[in-house]
Amino acid sequence: MSNSGTDLTNNAKLLAWVKEMAALCKPDQVHWVDGTQEENDRLCGELVDAGIFIKLNPEKRPNSYLARSHPSDVARVEDRTYICSENKDDAGPTNNWMAPSEMRPLLAEKFDGCMKGRTMYVIPFSMGPLGSPIAHIGVQVTDSAYVVVNQRIMTRMGKKVLDVLGDDGTFIPCVHSVGAPLEPGQEDSAWPCEGDPSNKYIVHYPESREIWSYGSGYGGNALLGKKCFALRIASAMARDEGWLAEHMLILGLESPEGEKTYVGAAFPSACGKTNLAMLIPPEGFEGWKAWTVGDDIAWIKPGPDGTLRAINPEYGYFGVAPGTSYDTNPTAMDSIKEGCIFTNVALTDDGDVWWEGIDGDPPAHAIDWKGNDWTPASETPASHPNARFTAPSANCPSIDPSWEDPAGVPISAFIFGGRLSKTFPLVYQSLDWNHGVFMAATMGSEATAAAIGQAAIRRDPFAMLPFCGYNMAKYWGHWVKMGERSDLKLPQIFRVNWFRKDANGKFIWPGFGQNMRVLQWIVDRVNGKADAVESPFGMMPKYQAINWSGLDFDKETYDGLMTINKDEGLAEVAEIRGHFDTFGDALPAEMETERQAFGERLAAGPDQWNLPS
Ligand code: GTP
Ligand code: SPV
Ligand code: MN
Repeated sequence: MSNSGTDLTNNAKLLAWVKEMAALCKPDQVHWVDGTQEENDRLCGELVDAGIFIKLNPEKRPNSYLARSHPSDVARVEDRTYICSENKDDAGPTNNWMAPSEMRPLLAEKFDGCMKGRTMYVIPFSMGPLGSPIAHIGVQVTDSAYVVVNQRIMTRMGKKVLDVLGDDGTFIPCVHSVGAPLEPGQEDSAWPCEGDPSNKYIVHYPESREIWSYGSGYGGNALLGKKCFALRIASAMARDEGWLAEHMLILGLESPEGEKTYVGAAFPSACGKTNLAMLIPPEGFEGWKAWTVGDDIAWIKPGPDGTLRAINPEYGYFGVAPGTSYDTNPTAMDSIKEGCIFTNVALTDDGDVWWEGIDGDPPAHAIDWKGNDWTPASETPASHPNARFTAPSANCPSIDPSWEDPAGVPISAFIFGGRLSKTFPLVYQSLDWNHGVFMAATMGSEATAAAIGQAAIRRDPFAMLPFCGYNMAKYWGHWVKMGERSDLKLPQIFRVNWFRKDANGKFIWPGFGQNMRVLQWIVDRVNGKADAVESPFGMMPKYQAINWSGLDFDKETYDGLMTINKDEGLAEVAEIRGHFDTFGDALPAEMETERQAFGERLAAGPDQWNLPS
C-alpha cells in the first residue's frame, strides 16, 4: 500500500491515527492532501474522467464543475444522525442516541475494508483562520475525491494546517467513507454511496470528540467540518470551555458615519441565512454598507475585553441554489461566477448551470439533476430542491475586511427567527438576557398538521435542533450561565419574523433587502440611539422608529405586522409548556419562570395589543 505524504508531518498522534484508520478501512493507497492548486487540478481531472464531475463551459463559468448525486443521497439524514454519549440523558430527547459500547462494534464492522479499491485521502483542516485562538483543527480521512475538492473550498486545508498543528497539536478525528468498496475489476458508479438508507450512519462521540460518517457523500453528511464538527462536537466543546458554537450567520452593518456593528443571526435551515448574510441595503439607505462574515456557522468566544468575538469557522458557502437569483440575492450570484462546484442543479446546452428561480426564462432544453433530458414542459423540476453551490468566501463582493481577523469580530446583537405566518410580530427585543434565551429556546417554524387542519409550531430551538451535540435543555442552561458572567459584555437579543401572512396568505413584509430597515432599528437600539415600547412579547419599535425612506409602507400595514392577539399569545404559552415538558428535569428553571412571566404579561394586557401612535 502506497502512502504518499507521511513526510508532511511529524505529529505522532496524527501519524498513528492515520495508520490505524488505514488498517481498518483497507484502502489501496493513502494520500495526504497538501492543498495545492496542482493537486486540486489533478483531482478535478480525475473526477471528470470518472464521470463524477462535468466541467462547465469555461467562458460561462470558469474553473467550475457540476456533480450529480445518487437520487437517494441528496441531503443530510437526520434520522441516521447519532449523538453517542455514555448516558442517554446527555444526548437529550431531541437527538438519536446509541450507547458507545453498542455503536463502536457496529461501526467497526461497517468500516472494516470499506475503502477497498479506493484511495484514502487525509485532509488536515482548520475551522477558522489559521492559528486563531477561536479556531480549531480537524483531520478528515475520506474515500471521496469529491469531498476533498469541496473541503478545499469550505475549509482552510492542507499542508499549512499541519504546520499550525505542529508535532504535538491536537485535532478532532473525522472518519468518512461513502461505504462502497470496489472489488478488483469492479466498475465504479458515478456517485458511490451506501444504497440502503438504514445503513447510513452519521455518528458523534461528544465525550471523546470523534466523528464517524458512513454511507453518504452529500453535504453535511460528508463535509464533516461543517455540522458534525463546527456545530455538534463544537457545541459540546463550547459548553465545557465557556463559549458558543451556533447555527448563525455573521453580518457587519456600517452606518454612513462609519460606525460598524456586528450581529449574529440564527434561522433554521433554508430560512434565509444566506440571504440576510449577503443583504444589500435598499434604496433609502445611501451610505450604509452591509458586510458578510459568514452565512451558516459562528464560533463565539469571550475576548480579552469581555466582548463576544465571532469567527466564521468556514471558508466558503454551501448554499441552496434554487431560488437564488439577481433578484433575491445578487451577492450570491456574484459569488458563484467562478471556481465553484454545483451539485444537483441542471446543465444547459451551452455548458452552464440552471435552476428553478434563477433569472430569465427557463432554457428550452437542459439536462436535469438526474441526467435526463428536461424541457419547461417536464413535470419534474430540473434541479433538486436541495441542490447546492460550493463557493469560496473570497468570491463574495461584500466579504467583510475583517473576515479573516484571528481575533474575530465583536457581536452586539443576536437575532433569532423562524417561519411563522401568524401571532409573531416582525421584530421585538428581549426584556433581558434570560428572556432572550427563552425567545430563542421556543422559536420554530410552522408545520401544517394536515390531518387536523391546524398549524402547529415545529420547535427548532436556536435553529440548533439537528445540530446540538448534547441535551438541548442543558444547552439553554449553558446560555443562561453565559448571561450570569459579570466579565462579559453581553449582546442584546432580538426575535424577527419575515414570514407573517395576511388574510389572503400573502407575506405582509417584503423581506430580503428590505430587512435592512429592521436591522437598522436593531443596530440603533444596541447603540442606544432608538426608542422602543414595551409589549407583552418584548420591546418594539413604533412606526416612527423605523427608517421608511425609499419604501412605501403605510403605518396601518406596519401596525398589523406588530399587533398581538391575546388568545393566540396564550395558546403559544400553553404550547410551550408541552415543548418544555419533553425535557423533564433538564429544563432550566429560568425557562419556566420566563414562560409564566410571558403568560402574565399577556393576561394583563388587552385582547388585541396594538402599538401606540
Ligand atoms: P441552510 O444553508 O440550509 O442552513 O439555510 P439558509 O438559512 O442559508 O437558507 P437560505 O438562505 O438558502 O434560505 C432561502 C429561503 O428563504 C428561500 O425560500 C427564500 O425565499 C427564503 N427567504 C430568505 N429571505 C427571505 C425574506 O426576507 N422573506 C421571505 N419571505 N423569504 C425569505
Ligand atoms: C443546513 O442544512 O443547515 C445546511 C446544509 O447548511 S448542510 O451542510 O448539508 O447541513
Ligand atoms: Mn445550515
